[in-house]
Formats: sequence, C-alpha cells, structure tokens
Amino acid sequence: MIKKICCIGAGYVGGPTCSVIALKCPDICVTVVDKSVERIAQWNSEKLPIYEPGLDDVVSECRGRNLFFSTDIEKAIQEADLIFISVNTPTKTFGNGRGRAADLKYVESAARMIADIATNDKIVVEKSTVPVRAAESIMNILRANHKPGVSYQILSNPEFLAEGTAIDDLINADRVLIGGEDTPQGQAAIEELCKVYEHWIPRKHILTTNTWSSELSKLAANAFLAQRISSINSLSAICEKTGADVSEVARAVGLDSRIGSKFLQASVGFGGSCFQKDILNLVYICECLNLPEVATYWQQVIDMNEWQKSRFSAKVIESLFNTVTDKHIAVLGFAFKKNTGDTRESPAIHVSRTLLDEGAVLHIYDPK
Ligand SMILES: NC(=O)c1ccc[n+]([C@@H]2O[C@H](COP(=O)([O-])OP(=O)(O)OC[C@H]3O[C@@H](n4cnc5c(N)ncnc54)[C@H](O)[C@@H]3O)[C@@H](O)[C@H]2O)c1
Repeated sequence: MIKKICCIGAGYVGGPTCSVIALKCPDICVTVVDKSVERIAQWNSEKLPIYEPGLDDVVSECRGRNLFFSTDIEKAIQEADLIFISVNTPTKTFGNGRGRAADLKYVESAARMIADIATNDKIVVEKSTVPVRAAESIMNILRANHKPGVSYQILSNPEFLAEGTAIDDLINADRVLIGGEDTPQGQAAIEELCKVYEHWIPRKHILTTNTWSSELSKLAANAFLAQRISSINSLSAICEKTGADVSEVARAVGLDSRIGSKFLQASVGFGGSCFQKDILNLVYICECLNLPEVATYWQQVIDMNEWQKSRFSAKVIESLFNTVTDKHIAVLGFAFKKNTGDTRESPAIHVSRTLLDEGAVLHIYDPK
C-alpha cells in the first residue's frame, strides 16, 4: 500500500500532477523535490512558479497537510514507497543525436540518486517523456548500483496534461496509462499505482500495458496532435491561394465524426516544450531503428511547422509594404498558447526575432 510518494522535478508536470494526487489522496503524503532552491521557494510562497488555472486553490488546500515542496531530496527518496521521475528531457544540444535525440542526463542523475539513497524497495515511475525502452536504462542503473536486499520495479506512466488546462486534465483525465513488466512483481507494482489513481479516476479509464507500449504511446499521442496542426496549416496555404476559407474547411472536415473538430485551427504554428522535442525524438528513434521512411514521414510535421512560422513572419512584412524597419509593432501574447506563462519554443519568439532582424521596434505584452 502506497503511503508516501516522492516526485523528483517540481516543474510544469511534477508540480500540478502531485498537487492533484495530494488533493485526491488525503491518505498519501506527497513530497515534490527539486534541485532548484529558487523553484522550491516559489512553490512554498504565495506566488507559484507556474501559472495554471485552478492550481493556486489546489496547492493552498493541500500544502502543509499532505503536500510538501522540498530541496531535501535524500530524505524524500529515503522515505518514499513510490518515486515519480518528472525531470526535464530536452532535445540534446551536443554529441550523438544532437538536435534530435532526447537528453536523458537528468533522468539518469535522478536514477543514480535513487540507487545511492534507497535502502528499501521502491516503485520508480517514469513520468517524464522518454524514448521507447528508456526504462531499460533506468533499470540497468538501479540494478548495477543497488544495495543488498533492495529491489526496484520501474513503471512508465506518461503524463498527457496540456499546459493551460492541466488541473482539469488531471482531474478529468481521458485515460491514465501505466506500463510495467509482465512479471508477478511488475503486475503488483502496476496495481499499486492503479490504486493511487483509483482515488478519483474510474478503473475503466486506467489503461495498463507493457512498458514499451506505454513509453511509445506518449510520443505517438504528441506526434498525432502536432500532425493535425501541421495538416490544417498546410491547407491554410492552399486556401490563401484559392479563396477557400481555412476555418470553413476545418469546420466542414471536423464535423465528420471519424475526424473530429479538435486541433484543426490554422495558426502561426505549434510551440511549447513538448511537440517539437517529442517528434524529433521519434524521428531519431526511427533512424536508429533503420526506418528512414517512417523518420521522413514524421519529420515533415516539424518541417511544415517551421515553414508556417516563416510564412507568417513574411506575411506580416509583406502587409507592411515589404519593410518593417523602424516601424513600431505590438505583439499581444508571447506565451506559446493561452492560459499559460510558458514561452518555451513559442512561435512568438520566431516571429519576433525575424521582425527584429528586419529592424522593427517591438512592444510585447503578455498578461502572464
Ligand atoms: N510541460 C508539459 O506540458 C508536459 C506535458 C507532458 C509531459 N511532459 C514531460 O514531463 C517532463 C517534465 O517536463 P516539465 O515541463 O515539467 O519540465 P520543467 O523543466 O518545468 O521541470 C523539470 C524540473 O526538474 C528539475 N530537475 C532536473 N533534474 C533534477 C534532479 N536530478 N534532481 C532534482 N530535480 C531535478 C529541474 O530543476 C526542473 O525544475 C518532460 O519529460 C516533459 O517532456 C511535459
């Protein structure tokens, strides 16, 4: 029975996810730890480090009761029955796979800390988005460094929340996905994590799979979502040349129940810390598996997005008589989408940089 949970990584995923677990599981003590002293201080203050509608209320109800934010990583790992690894997994900027592969150094360092500190059995849960078969590397690290009598189970439990609607997504999740080993111990660990979620998620919405399916499903879900955006954006280019209206086309297409209406709004292109990184990761995996046709297929989703961002910037310049030098331009909204303060990979960065390069004077406003 899980009584204590530790979450390594107090970011956009670890913070909201564990706040909701604490809200829905008053019998479980949840401690979120981070190596960033500043981030933890913010979680313990009145001004949380991230903006999410509804998050303040959840934190103020649970903090100090069964939800704690701490930099004492060692103590939290030591005491926990179950540990979420919720650290960042950015695109590698160096070495092999640079610009495409996921950099797993933070996941590895979390795994090493667990191996160093743990003196009793732990269920270790990959919450971070990782390449398929990453659990194998985590298990190798844990098993190679384990102390006598300590055993581990690794589960994959990817997070599907979207920034801006994270609290609602967590409380009313379409599904929770848990992958584990097909052994009696693996199945028992899956059951323990199921029991945590069953405090508020109906069992029929908790999907259990093997570890690799779970890891790949997260990359696949983000690839499908981004693909829809690139698809409608590609059609927006046809619309502009033919007099068709992309919002009318999107509505007509989306009313087909086989297609559905979500993620069909033409735009400047997708941003955020996940879509591009996760698709690049998928492309890299395909290349490593010697599947170049599949790699090219998914790469095109990114290429279309880059093209759309450039097209948008070019259109702004064109509509201002082909020069923006010394012109004052207001940019309303800088985050990558509404209801978040997160600017990671925001298309606004690309557009602003292009306009600045062309000599424009920008006035940027974002409420968050
Ligand atoms: N942001 C999203 O919308 C979203 C949604 C689903 C999944 N994910 C995935 O979840 C993971 C986390 O994303 P995020 O947006 O929360 O990242 P983030 O950068 O906001 O937070 C990660 C935190 O982990 C901390 N950290 C890193 N290494 C550590 C260590 N060894 N010990 C203690 N703390 C450590 C960092 O200091 C940071 O505060 C990523 O893999 C991401 O792909 C993100």
